[in-house]
Amino acid sequence: MSGTNTVTLSTSVAHLAQAANLLTAGECIAFPTETVYGLGADARSGTAVAKVFAAKGRPAFNPLIVHVPDATIAQRHVIWSDTADRLASAFWPGPLTLVLPLRAEHGIAPLVTAGLDSLAVRVPAQSIAQRLMHMFGGPLAAPSANLSGQISATQARHVLAGLQGKIAAVVDDGPCPVGLESTIVGLTGDRPVLLRPGGLPVEVIETALGHTLARAGDKEGVTAPGQLQSHYAPAAALRLQARFPRAGELLLGFGPMDCDLNLSQTGDLTEAAANLFGHLHKLDRMSAMIAVAPVPDHGLGLAINDRLRRAAAPRDT
Ligand code: TXA
Ligand code: MG
Repeated sequence: MSGTNTVTLSTSVAHLAQAANLLTAGECIAFPTETVYGLGADARSGTAVAKVFAAKGRPAFNPLIVHVPDATIAQRHVIWSDTADRLASAFWPGPLTLVLPLRAEHGIAPLVTAGLDSLAVRVPAQSIAQRLMHMFGGPLAAPSANLSGQISATQARHVLAGLQGKIAAVVDDGPCPVGLESTIVGLTGDRPVLLRPGGLPVEVIETALGHTLARAGDKEGVTAPGQLQSHYAPAAALRLQARFPRAGELLLGFGPMDCDLNLSQTGDLTEAAANLFGHLHKLDRMSAMIAVAPVPDHGLGLAINDRLRRAAAPRDT
């Protein structure tokens, strides 16, 4: 879609209908969810999904999450289990993605799963995402709406900064309340595995299950494709665990402290998660070097630190 004019759509019924029609026509469009903006396409159409990969410049081995309006519809595509039922009842709709075995007649284009025999499914809670899915009436494959390897978009203007002219439209519903991608739990083996920390705290999931989650990498053969080392990267260099800025650096703070931007003045991890990508976008526009204060490694802090480590990892050239 290079060279296309990307239209910004509102959340009016007429504009949502236009967004749904673009999806039906096989175009990809960005839309809000409670976590981050997604770049959605009809998950049943290989050509539609190919446009997502093309727009993002994403390595094709990286599978996508399929978004559906509820757990019943999810079961058209994946083999359900007691654990899936438990987690879905507790946390759907919401910022949790479940990876489950694909059903025989799943109807999902192979490009979505990048050849895996499992599928990542998620039921977003965001009201506009829900309305769009209902109007479109099909499964929506949607990675985060950013160029591959860059910071996820939590506002429509972040989407446009990376994808303007490469996608048909973006539905603007303001900032995403959670601000971090969904937590991904793998349910394809003997034990539930945490594949990616995210917007739903791990501890909350473990309480619902009554036991701890295995961690990706604990067990031989557990992989989280797409967990590339350098990911979510701003253009600026990032230095973590910084108490003070060095010459030339801007300081991204956490808790009461002197800094250029603060994730949360009061040390609130939920607020910090919601601010993370927006603040990184801002500092990235202002400086080539960003120092980041320590963030506690529990609750949403686990996901925040995961994203920060990826943003700071050595870059592929
Ligand atoms: O909050 C979110 O999850 C956002 C919004 C838009 O829903 N989406 C998102 O998608 O973060 P994406 O594509 O940026 O991240 C999907 C992650 C990738 O790390 C991918 O490798 C993993 O999910 N994934 C997808 N399918 C998988 C599978 N079958 N097995 C293991 N991991 C999978
Ligand atoms: Mg992403």
